[in-house]
Amino acid sequence: MRNKGTNIKITVKNQTISYNDEGPNAAPVIILIHGFPFDKSMWNDQMEMLTENFRVIAYDIRGFGNSEAGTYDFTVELFVSDLLGLMDALKIEKAMLCGLSMGGYIALNAIENYPKRFIGLILCDTSCVADTPEAVEKRMVTIEKIDKYGIELFANESIKNLFSPISFVINQEKIAVVKEMILKTPVKTLSATLLALTKRKETCNKLAEIKVPVLIIVGEDDKITPPVAARQMHKNIKSSILNVIENAGHLSNIENSYEFNICLEKFLKTVRLK
Ligand code: MLT
Repeated sequence: MRNKGTNIKITVKNQTISYNDEGPNAAPVIILIHGFPFDKSMWNDQMEMLTENFRVIAYDIRGFGNSEAGTYDFTVELFVSDLLGLMDALKIEKAMLCGLSMGGYIALNAIENYPKRFIGLILCDTSCVADTPEAVEKRMVTIEKIDKYGIELFANESIKNLFSPISFVINQEKIAVVKEMILKTPVKTLSATLLALTKRKETCNKLAEIKVPVLIIVGEDDKITPPVAARQMHKNIKSSILNVIENAGHLSNIENSYEFNICLEKFLKTVRLK
């Protein structure tokens, strides 16, 4: 029997995963995968709209939000195996994936390795490329700085890069919520995930093999995974749709949820899910 609601706990590979499960029983499933270092609540502005016609699952990646970290070293592959484990535990054979940034890295790796399990992709503010040596170096410095100076400095520096200039004027409350989300993330999770991201494999070479409907969304001011990265994926995924969101940076679903939701709704109306 399905457990409907928020903050539901389920055991996946001996770890407790926390998830929200809302929307009609028989509807197609959309799974929302958050970015780094956030949690499933980053999708709150999308839930109401999506649950009209979809069963929507938003979960906390291991170590984030209310999910346990476990003892394994974090890798994108481990996150993908958790995703598949969650789908199996919930008896979901096929789903559409919607991932933002790290959530997109997970979605791209998942569809590359388990194409039969997915009926569509929504790639938000993400990229198919692996870390450059400079990016790896930067993440290693970040790990050291978190260790030395603590999480508050990390949160403040992250915020500067996450949002578009306009958000610092009109979205102060949303910025405060995101900062709170970052501050709640355990330091161990931050370091383990930064390390995992340095090791992630590129997924660009396999984009042409993606045969399901794909929507790509990017904030026009995204400094972390900029519009050029979204255009590269759009070019390589045949018949994908690309939407650039105005007045938004890296967290386009939060900063301009109005435009973001319109794009999402339009895309979901046009796709036939099997
Ligand atoms: C994210 O939002 O998930 C991160 O910015 C991803 C990254 O650092 O590559």
